[in-house]
Amino acid sequence: MSNIPAGSNKSRIRKVSRNFFLHIHAPRVNLRSLKLTTTWGLGVGLVVLFLILILTGVLLMLYYTPSVGQAYSSVKDITYVVRGGRYLRNLHRWAAHGMVILAFLHLIRTFFTGAYLKGRRLNWIIGVAMLLVTLFLSFSGYLLPWDQLAYWAVTIGSNIAASAREFTDALGVTQAFDPGGLVKRLLIGDEVVGQEALTRFYMLHIIFLPLTLLVLMGVHFWRIRKDGGLTRPADSQEQDIHTWPTALWAELAVVMVSCAVLMAMALFFDAPLKELANPLLPENPAKSPWYFLGIQELISYSAFAGGIIVPLLFVAFLVSIPFRDREDAHAGNWFSGSEGKRVTLASLAFSAIVTIAALFVNVNFGWLGDWFAGVPQLLIILINPGTVLAAAYVGWSSYLRRRTGSVHFAAMALFTCALVGLIILTYVGVWLRGPDWEFYWLRSSWPVQ
Ligand code: HEM
Repeated sequence: MSNIPAGSNKSRIRKVSRNFFLHIHAPRVNLRSLKLTTTWGLGVGLVVLFLILILTGVLLMLYYTPSVGQAYSSVKDITYVVRGGRYLRNLHRWAAHGMVILAFLHLIRTFFTGAYLKGRRLNWIIGVAMLLVTLFLSFSGYLLPWDQLAYWAVTIGSNIAASAREFTDALGVTQAFDPGGLVKRLLIGDEVVGQEALTRFYMLHIIFLPLTLLVLMGVHFWRIRKDGGLTRPADSQEQDIHTWPTALWAELAVVMVSCAVLMAMALFFDAPLKELANPLLPENPAKSPWYFLGIQELISYSAFAGGIIVPLLFVAFLVSIPFRDREDAHAGNWFSGSEGKRVTLASLAFSAIVTIAALFVNVNFGWLGDWFAGVPQLLIILINPGTVLAAAYVGWSSYLRRRTGSVHFAAMALFTCALVGLIILTYVGVWLRGPDWEFYWLRSSWPVQ
């Protein structure tokens, strides 16, 4: 029996350190970290969605059969025969999309509050890895229903993986050296999507990727504790309070809002299930999942540049941010004050104008290959709307670096440009590209198939 009085400092600290769930937290937390406008509850929302995905995923696994012959009918059974199965599937599907959206929003929040500064480099890099794993976790689940949507989305995805072939083809060495083919084979185990791909995606989806994410999450939370809690400005006046119970109530509120939104979505919107996959009848347009449609738009200009070079440059930029930017004074302040806000707004306008202009030229007048007969493919890989946009964003960021004398503002400029570009390209891919990847202002003007 302990004789520590209930409600005393000691008893609260004890509660936190003895309980497994509370133990993830430090015994004390700064009041600022609990404000909605500091985190928008995005990190906790991500954890909630991940836990829901595991729970619903395990239940779906009881009914799902990962074989080309039975996958589709087992998903149909889940949707139409199993009691509550449709709702379960909806929860799983919308939680997966929600996780991708929240991971991007959380990336944006941590970036614009300078949360990678002040020694939080490692956690930022772990975050980038978690974003990539989240994307592939969602993508690997996309194939499992084995319907037309799944089949053709993954076929496009696997072609993106093989897009180094455009480069080796241009050099005429693909017969001897085929890294694109190797990556594709590793991913789908064959030249076309079939049982090999389904087995691989299933294993990745139910074991390898969730476990990887779980481990990374553990390290992510451990680092937050080690780094002394969430980032806050050096001049922050707010005091520390006991984690138990205030912080836990705040988290519980986020848990409840996340669950309520997801449950309502699953009630009103059904997860799509098209006809059984038909390898002989491509969907037109065949589109990858929405979060890869920005990349698919770039691929329509050059497969190698759009599918490999530009995405790799983006990831390299994300990883390099905390190594290049060491201006710790900006940590914890949204947009780093008024100058940062101006940089962000100007970069937003710059990126929107340049990206839309590049799209306009491409849609209305074509590109190098249309203008000059016999242009070598290598030149198109080097100069296409994707690489031109990347160069324009980098040019703008270096201009601001010189103007403001700050690497931090230059990083903000490049991040904003890349993000705005990605959003515009994704929008075009989702809404404005119709059959044969033609550009249409309205979906209603798509030709009738
Ligand atoms: C995908 C799964 C992820 C989960 C479950 C997750 C979870 C969390 C949680 C719970 C927090 C504390 C509360 C909050 O800031 O909202 C946090 C903080 C943080 N996260 Fe994540 N995160 C994920 C992805 C990412 C990504 C993509 C990045 C960025 C590349 C990132 C970077 C950070 C950083 C730097 C912090 C510390 C924030 C600070 O000091 O203010 N995380 N994360």
